[in-house]
Amino acid sequence: MLITLPRVLDADDLRAARAALAGAPWDDGRDSAGAQAAQVKHNQQLPHDCVAAIDVRQRVLRGLDRHPQFLMAALPKRVFAPRVNRYSGATNHYGNHVDNAIRFAPDSGQRVRTDLSCTVFLSDPRDYNGGELVVQEPNGGERIKLAAGDAVLYPGTHVHQVLPVTRGERLACFFWVESMVRSHEQRRLLYEMDLALMQLRTRHGESAETVALTGTYHNLLRMWADT
Ligand code: NI
Repeated sequence: MLITLPRVLDADDLRAARAALAGAPWDDGRDSAGAQAAQVKHNQQLPHDCVAAIDVRQRVLRGLDRHPQFLMAALPKRVFAPRVNRYSGATNHYGNHVDNAIRFAPDSGQRVRTDLSCTVFLSDPRDYNGGELVVQEPNGGERIKLAAGDAVLYPGTHVHQVLPVTRGERLACFFWVESMVRSHEQRRLLYEMDLALMQLRTRHGESAETVALTGTYHNLLRMWADT
């Protein structure tokens, strides 16, 4: 299941992030890829600890913290420190690959299981051609290219790629999430139930039934979650 998260970053954040990224010290993106991925990875990334990367990372983490849909859909246990990448010029694509199942957080060395991947688009889609994220699903791949500030959340289990950028540059922030609920099926059921409950409340207000179903939601979460 692919989930779009609108406006993780607002216009002020985007302006500040782009200003921080102008003149930032880009590195070869292959530095952080696993052996299979490194063969098809042709992009640039910011060093983890540079000023621009820290600025963008903090803005994204704050945006996620206040994003109800992210919390509902990901049920995050750990978030791998977001990184920033760039596709442009000769380093403009990332072929089909799978992300490593376990990442080591650069600061703490803590292991993060990559249940979910997330990309936050930083560039205005009108400013570049190509650069779609394609996530292979059983019924074909969807080409994803979102408005600046929006994000897509997708299962870390899927083969995916970023198509060549043929004009302009594509800036994005990406990270992985270890979820409290490891199973995609269980997490999806919880998300759908949570959404339906929210809509029920909006339409009809609180009732004995919404209270009972909220109890069921939490009892399922209690049964499936690992904190
Ligand atoms: Ni990837």
